[in-house]
Amino acid sequence: MKKFYITTPIYYVNDKPHLGHAYTTIAADILARWHRMKGERVFFLTGTDEHGEKVAKSAREKNITPREICDQNSSRFSKVFDILDISYDRFIRTTEADHEKLVSKVLNELNKKKLIYSGVYKGLYCVGCERYYTNKELSDGKCPIHQQEPITLAEDCYFLKLSSFQRQLLNLIKTKALIIEPESRKNEILGFLTSEKLEDLAISREKVEWGVPIPWDKSQSVYVWVDALLNYLSGIGWKGPGQKWPLFWPPEVQLIGKDILRFHAVLWPAILLSLGAPLFKKLYVHGYFTVNGQKMSKSLGNAIDAEELALVFGSDAFRWLIVSSFSFGSDGDISQSRLYDKYNSDLSNGLGNLVRRVLVLAAKNKKNSFFPDKSSNADFKNKIAKIWQGYEAALEDFKFETTLDNISDLVAFCDRYVDAKKPWELFKNNQPEYQKTIYNLLEVLRHLGWMLLPFMPSKSDLIFESLGLLGKEKIKSLEQGQKWGKVKFTNVKQGKALFPRL
Ligand code: MSP
Repeated sequence: MKKFYITTPIYYVNDKPHLGHAYTTIAADILARWHRMKGERVFFLTGTDEHGEKVAKSAREKNITPREICDQNSSRFSKVFDILDISYDRFIRTTEADHEKLVSKVLNELNKKKLIYSGVYKGLYCVGCERYYTNKELSDGKCPIHQQEPITLAEDCYFLKLSSFQRQLLNLIKTKALIIEPESRKNEILGFLTSEKLEDLAISREKVEWGVPIPWDKSQSVYVWVDALLNYLSGIGWKGPGQKWPLFWPPEVQLIGKDILRFHAVLWPAILLSLGAPLFKKLYVHGYFTVNGQKMSKSLGNAIDAEELALVFGSDAFRWLIVSSFSFGSDGDISQSRLYDKYNSDLSNGLGNLVRRVLVLAAKNKKNSFFPDKSSNADFKNKIAKIWQGYEAALEDFKFETTLDNISDLVAFCDRYVDAKKPWELFKNNQPEYQKTIYNLLEVLRHLGWMLLPFMPSKSDLIFESLGLLGKEKIKSLEQGQKWGKVKFTNVKQGKALFPRL
């Protein structure tokens, strides 16, 4: 059986879960559900990134321990992910014992391989980002994310010989042994690796009280990014150097936002190469969204709370709205008013209205039975087969918005079909044609139930439920589900409105 290991970044535990976090995680969940639907064995990893000076500082301010603040905040993320129906297989926390143990073991291994040396690091450090910046990366002397001037730090530390990986990384990316998508992000990294000399990386910090200690020098803690990246290995149970790679290793897809591209396209593969680990198959980099034209951030105070919005629209509608707002690999803007408009047009007046309309029309037949009829099916059969083809191609290509646009087109097509056929009239004067028409519509709804499954798992169940097919469809393979005209409908129910108007 094919396996599929997918990861999201792990989220800074200090932040409140906002729309940005929800975006990456919902996209990963859609892919995880899609691959499960195809019958693959899926492992979907997400979690929280919990070490570092920022967490220790927040704990001091609140007069509680870092552990307490991590417990409180991490559960906010897992709670929101539960509200959003995120079907993760593990929610990893970097303060868990198995993870911390692995980090120490990996550091020892890199040291044993002479990839680590001690030195002094002097540089411009942004406390907000917990990272050093080069002059070139600053905008007007300020951190481009926090708009704050970095502080100059000089400290003893350990370095990783990252520079020795430059040529190898370049080759791997050029030859597509390491796939970075979309193309623009791949070119960004190739440009960086071609035009700049890769520097060795300071991978420890002095006096960080909340971190994993360097195993042979307890006065130093492991740099949070090295610690955090290793979650992808500890999260599926790798026990450390010399131990066999877990069944799910390597990841088929690692999803990230564009802000953390270099960590994942340079540092992460360099660590894996050092460990002799097979590399992840694909890094997919999504865009950033702004809110009402403004960059969304905690410091600007315009971060949209993911939980609030999920409660307004309901989890399924929220999932639809957030991935259909703009194309996944690009940047885009989200405004609350556009989300409302989209809810009403795509869902309330679109999909939800069609489902209600068809169920009401079906209820005219008191026998409640609709059977396939070969003579009327050919057009629909071909149309649906084509839509499925496009659906699969778009999902394999991370084009969520295209998939949902195609679903909306199918809904509009059915609305036109109802308007043209006028089944309420057929019911009175042409029963056989009424039966065929309603059969086709019910069968499209069943297909919509399948197509919506990765995007809106609860509404997909509700559609099957209304068709009286929930149990039966659940045990089918996707291939069986995709066949046209094999199902009899004998227990169609009314059900409640899928998307009440807001
Ligand atoms: N902790 C690190 C990741 C370590 S992974 C080994 C981190 N965390 S984060 O919480 O700041 O960001 C996590 C993800 O959320 C990133 O993929 C980031 O791109 C995404 N987003 C945060 N804000 C976003 C937007 N405004 N728009 C889209 N995605 C954004 O980085």
